[in-house]
Amino acid sequence: MDSENLLARITDYASRPDPYPLYRELREAGPVVRQADGSMLVGTYYEIAALLHDPRMSAEPRNRGEATHKPPFLRLDDPEHHRLRTLAMRPFGPPHSPARVDAMRGEIDRITKELLEPFEAGRQIDIVDDFAYPLPVTVICRLLGVPREDEPLFRAWSNTLVAAADVRPDADATQPHEAGDKARVEMGAYLLDLAEQRRGKPSDDLLSAFVNEPDPDLRLTQQELAETAVLLLIAGHETTVNLIANGVLTLLRQPEHQDRLRREPDLLPPAVEELLRYEPPVHMRERTPRADIEVAGSTLAQGTPVILVLASGNRDPKRFPDADRFDPARPDNQHFGFGSGVHLCYGAPLARLEAQAALRALLPRLGTAALVQDPPPYRQNAMLRGPRHLLVQL
Ligand code: HEM
Repeated sequence: MDSENLLARITDYASRPDPYPLYRELREAGPVVRQADGSMLVGTYYEIAALLHDPRMSAEPRNRGEATHKPPFLRLDDPEHHRLRTLAMRPFGPPHSPARVDAMRGEIDRITKELLEPFEAGRQIDIVDDFAYPLPVTVICRLLGVPREDEPLFRAWSNTLVAAADVRPDADATQPHEAGDKARVEMGAYLLDLAEQRRGKPSDDLLSAFVNEPDPDLRLTQQELAETAVLLLIAGHETTVNLIANGVLTLLRQPEHQDRLRREPDLLPPAVEELLRYEPPVHMRERTPRADIEVAGSTLAQGTPVILVLASGNRDPKRFPDADRFDPARPDNQHFGFGSGVHLCYGAPLARLEAQAALRALLPRLGTAALVQDPPPYRQNAMLRGPRHLLVQL
């Protein structure tokens, strides 16, 4: 049956420019679709939501029992996850009022303006390399306290780690991802070293806040600090770039929305939400049931790899009317762009701010811009999907 090979077809690089017809096939074959390798795919909105909120679904690596190393909190379950997420959030300010992120607003606008200076009419630019990548990287470096000049160093680690973490059919979960592990250890040691340099000399960045925490109950261990800092640096690197690039691509393909956004700038925040639904940077997440779980008449057996295709849930017509249409004013837009449940994206306020600032600054320059290549070349990764380059003639 063809539906048994859906994951192989989705992850096939040839599907990268437009995986959405495969997601439709997945929903029509679903809600739960067994793959030839025994893993299960879920692509319908309500079933994904239920599973993301089900405490029996584990986010931990399946071979964690054998590993000596504690994963970052993205890959931990409660209560361990909750403790680390709370500690990592503390320097951001009180819950629900991300004061530190708000303080970044002026800085984000300044960085955006600087990056856009060379964007003159007549020039050909790469939206990814010249804008969508350097913006979030500069911001996360500033926030964490990492020297921007070290970017070539951590870009290489980040690329290796993200490649190792991609979803693949037939992946052997027990096989160590050696290159990924090595990059993680090296990147962690580098960030610990930066944190150590700040011990006793507090500055306004997160590494300093972590290492100078006076309350021993609220202090991260060395290893937890390393894992958390690696997670934040990578998340700041590999996601927002895709949101901005996917956003520019969508607006260049559908220029009628550009005119509307230029006329009605209040639509920018909902337009960014719609981009997170329509062209999200994170397409899938993996979980493992700790017990047999019934979903819409099927059983997810304990220990089976389950892949939740968030980007397919975002296009589910049972949840979103006219789901394949990009509608920047869409009401009631509870998308999975930032996930849902206990692992809901920790960086969402920052990512929203960056994407809104980026599009606000770019819109006046896109009016007569043209895509040089459509579809653009995509990155290899199927889980974190976005263009590798996006050439635009201004
Ligand atoms: C447009 C940009 C971004 C997107 C689309 C995005 C998406 C996501 C998604 C879907 C998850 C849930 C993963 C899961 O359930 O397994 C997540 C978690 C997370 N994100 Fe983001 N993210 C973005 C930006 C950021 C930024 C800038 C940061 C850091 C400052 C960040 C830090 C995190 C962390 C730490 C988690 C794990 C939360 C937890 O396990 O409790 N993200 N993100």
